[in-house]
Amino acid sequence: MVTNTLIETAPALLERWMREYYFTTDIDIGSSGVESFSMAELRKLLGITPAELDRIVFNDSHTIGNPELREALARRFGIGDPGRVMATQGSSEAIFLTMTALLRPGDEVVVMDPSYQQLFAMAESLGCRLKHWLLRDELAFAPDIEELEELISSQTRMIVVNFPHNPTGVTISREEQACLIEMAARVGAYLIWDGAFAELTYDELPLPDPSLYYERAISFGTLSKAYGLPGLRVGWCFASPDILSRFAHLRDYTILHLSPLVELIAQRAIENAEMLLDIRLQQARANRRILADWVQEQEEAVSWVSPRGGVCAFLRLNEVTDVEALCRHLADVYKTLLVPGICFSRPRHVRLGFGCSTPRLEAGISNLSVLLKARSRAAH
Ligand SMILES: Cc1ncc(COP(=O)(O)O)c(C=O)c1O
Repeated sequence: MVTNTLIETAPALLERWMREYYFTTDIDIGSSGVESFSMAELRKLLGITPAELDRIVFNDSHTIGNPELREALARRFGIGDPGRVMATQGSSEAIFLTMTALLRPGDEVVVMDPSYQQLFAMAESLGCRLKHWLLRDELAFAPDIEELEELISSQTRMIVVNFPHNPTGVTISREEQACLIEMAARVGAYLIWDGAFAELTYDELPLPDPSLYYERAISFGTLSKAYGLPGLRVGWCFASPDILSRFAHLRDYTILHLSPLVELIAQRAIENAEMLLDIRLQQARANRRILADWVQEQEEAVSWVSPRGGVCAFLRLNEVTDVEALCRHLADVYKTLLVPGICFSRPRHVRLGFGCSTPRLEAGISNLSVLLKARSRAAH
């Protein structure tokens, strides 16, 4: 029996910002994923034929996802048993199911700060007691595992982390990941591992999935970020079959199942993951270099930490007093989408997404340069 209730959810600031500007701007240097693929590109790359599409019958699908899709995911991530895999409607559904199924009012939950809002705000609205694991600007947002250890207590029910991290692009080492799993296991806490950007790393291999090592680890992934398919709305969740059955219970009251059409495309994307990832990772790598050069040219006006993973950089605009106003101006006048740091409770920063095409990135940062210069002149 699922008994908890969402008391009051705070507005999701990032999603609200996107609602306001995603469709009214032309140059997107705000989103956190790589450049999206079209259906034509996808059909060609994945070899999906019209005959294959015609064979789809729009029956109901399986509650936790089509078995072939779940098998493809289990194979790709070395999960073994497809019974430990649930296909979700984006990883945002996985977040929702996890928080609502496993948390109760008063539970102690350790969350990252800053963080993608859904990863802490749902626990907050459920009446949980949050402890914030701070990533400090002055320490280049480096995650301090010892500081995390001090926050974890015998009362901790859940630890929620996201690596590579949105919005800073920082990550942890394999050894630090092992420590984290050990800390969660010591107190029997659920370890929530949001791996939305897991396969988008630059100088290091992706970290292994923690659900392979710890029974109470629950990890999320998605086609929205590294695969260039945010509109397909497919993510996944790896957890013990017992936990997944609790999620299925909740899903019976929400979306029931995914569409067979979407599941087929997702399955083929996962089966051809290397090809899709390679194309966009090459672009992201080149864009990251362009961005590094641009930041250097800005001298004192912009500081940053070069991201180790993902396609977001969290820039501090040192000479801008009202960053949100600058972002609105950039969107309204220059039709360029950038995300103000207020969406991550860091008002002096912006989240810049560099997953887009290279010409778009260049156009976007050039527009941003114009505004930064104007602000700097006004300030001096
Ligand atoms: C860290 C993180 N997790 C989960 C999500 C949800 O994405 P989706 O539902 O598209 O998989 C996002 C989206 O921005 C994110 O940044």
